[in-house]
Amino acid sequence: MTLQIQKPLILRALQGERVERTPVWIMRQAGRYLPEYRAVREKCTFLQLCRTPELACEVTLQPIRRFRFDAAILFSDILIPLEAMGAPVEFGDGGPKFTRPVRTRAQVDALRDADPYETMPFVAQSIQLIKKELPAEIPLLGFAGAPFTLFTYLVEGGGSKDFAAVKRMLFQEPALAHGLLERLATAAIGSLRMQIESGCEAVQLFDTWASALAPHDYETFALPYARRVFDELKRFGAPLIYYTNGIGGILEQAATTGATCLSIDWRLDLAEARARVPNLTFQGNLDPHALLGTESAVRAAARRILDANAGLPGHIFNLGHGIFPEAPIAAVEWLVDEVRRYRTDAL
Ligand code: CP3
Repeated sequence: MTLQIQKPLILRALQGERVERTPVWIMRQAGRYLPEYRAVREKCTFLQLCRTPELACEVTLQPIRRFRFDAAILFSDILIPLEAMGAPVEFGDGGPKFTRPVRTRAQVDALRDADPYETMPFVAQSIQLIKKELPAEIPLLGFAGAPFTLFTYLVEGGGSKDFAAVKRMLFQEPALAHGLLERLATAAIGSLRMQIESGCEAVQLFDTWASALAPHDYETFALPYARRVFDELKRFGAPLIYYTNGIGGILEQAATTGATCLSIDWRLDLAEARARVPNLTFQGNLDPHALLGTESAVRAAARRILDANAGLPGHIFNLGHGIFPEAPIAAVEWLVDEVRRYRTDAL
């Protein structure tokens, strides 16, 4: 008899197959809420961690060992490919900072269209190492920042609340903005392609800040570039996940990116998302700060989302944004336990 090796649970769920239980992983699952991550970070900087395959592999595996999530996610950052384009970034206590924000034609022209295998060889090496260590039933996810979200960091020089510099460029010099967005799409495609070729089995495109745009501006400055990324990746066959923080206002448009799965934040009810976009699969969507609740509150919040999904195929449990450093480990344990106990086949 030949051994039947079934496709990993999360890959089947991403494609919309009916599965025996809801898979679960957590955005930013390798991070400062874990004491074992903090122990590694005490000895090196965040960038050293990203650039050293043995260390990146170690921290990628930490949350798998502890919680046995249904997927691992490569340890890196969406801003690493921008470094490779010639825009140095520093990760300090106040979040990432670009020493020289990119705002003029000359600054855009000075960026390099780099070959990711040459500028980020450590990414491919990390993936190869992680794949050797990971059990076969736990796939490895790759990721990149979507062009518009990368654009916000590069143009603002870091995080922002109002995106004033971004909007000044979009509305005063749209041709310059479109030129930069094209370059960022090329970078995201190159990075994701390398990740898939190196062993990542699904990828997530983080368009975290796309919801800062009015729907009409989303259609002009974010959607076409996310669509270009997915258009060029779909031939590789890996499921494509699209995430926006605050996706509710642009859900129908986001559904036209070519994504296999939409990763939704907590401001949108999962049942409503399902009704508005019937043909895709969904990831999410627990409020990360629900993890500050009591055990019964955490378990009830998890169940509410599973109930909202109403047993439909194609749901991956996750938080609606990354886990934060103060999140209690016990709350993550309650969450994972509750999702695992919930039987989709009994519904
Ligand atoms: O999810 C994972 O475990 C994989 C690794 C990962 C990181 N960042 C590691 C990280 C992933 C997928 C990201 C994505 C990322 N990075 C996004 C998109 C998701 C989102 O949160 O919206 C964005 C916008 C970034 C940019 C970024 N990197 C910011 C704004 C910050 C500072 C905020 C913070 O949490 O410190 C980072 C730093 C960062 N990236 C850390 C980690 C674990 C913390 C750095 C440290 O250890 O000091």
